[in-house]
Amino acid sequence: MRILYAKDYEGMSFNAAKVLASVVINKPGCVLGLATGSSPIGMYKNLVKWCGDGILSFSKCRTVNLDEYVGLAPDHDMSYAYFMRDNLFGKIDIDMKNVNIPSGLAADGDAECARYDAVIESMGGVDIQLLGIGNNGHIGFNEPCDHFPLGTHKVTLTESTIEANKRFFASKDDVPRYAYTMGIGPIVRARKVLLIASGSGKAEILEKSLFGKVTPEVPASILQMIPDLVVCADEAALSLILEKHPEAVER
Ligand code: F6R
Repeated sequence: MRILYAKDYEGMSFNAAKVLASVVINKPGCVLGLATGSSPIGMYKNLVKWCGDGILSFSKCRTVNLDEYVGLAPDHDMSYAYFMRDNLFGKIDIDMKNVNIPSGLAADGDAECARYDAVIESMGGVDIQLLGIGNNGHIGFNEPCDHFPLGTHKVTLTESTIEANKRFFASKDDVPRYAYTMGIGPIVRARKVLLIASGSGKAEILEKSLFGKVTPEVPASILQMIPDLVVCADEAALSLILEKHPEAVER
């Protein structure tokens, strides 16, 4: 595991963009596992800029997103499909045929989950999986539970996640209660995992996930088992790690 320090959100975003860009440069046809939320927005801005500058091309990349809210159409402005078009796909040279996100409108949830697993399998797995981390340690929408669910599945979002995500919606009542999420299987099999975290609100869960017990009660703790894990975080998110395990952080 490598933990890369940055002073602030901009620094974290720059470090993370460099890690992802190096995978794309070394393997233009790579499979990118992507995330939404507030953590990756700055990183995506860097990637958009480098693509616009002609330094980076996504024309041969294939992508697979972690998750989508059940019930939201891709053109709903709170859907993750919309987020990805707005923050990345609509601004880079990616071929939209190579983009994969679970369908929030699928009539048959089980069939959608099976289809999504087959898509990931057919691509030969993920070269680099980008992850944010929830306040309760969720990765994707793999919420704390008594086992690590391996495949794509439908989850009931926890109260803590609904509370955290209500900031994106007009009201808490508008936050969907269910989501489809990639399971832990493709995440742990990814050839590289990039975890990003910013802000003091993530300090406790980041330390617990990376240095505490590996348990499905803290889904991100499984990341300790990943041989090639890079963590890009800012000083506020790293505050507890800097206090307890300063030697683990690369400045
Ligand atoms: C998003 C996702 C979630 C977020 C997590 C952190 O696709 O899978 O696990 O990464 O909820 O969200 P932010 O970055 O908004 O703090």
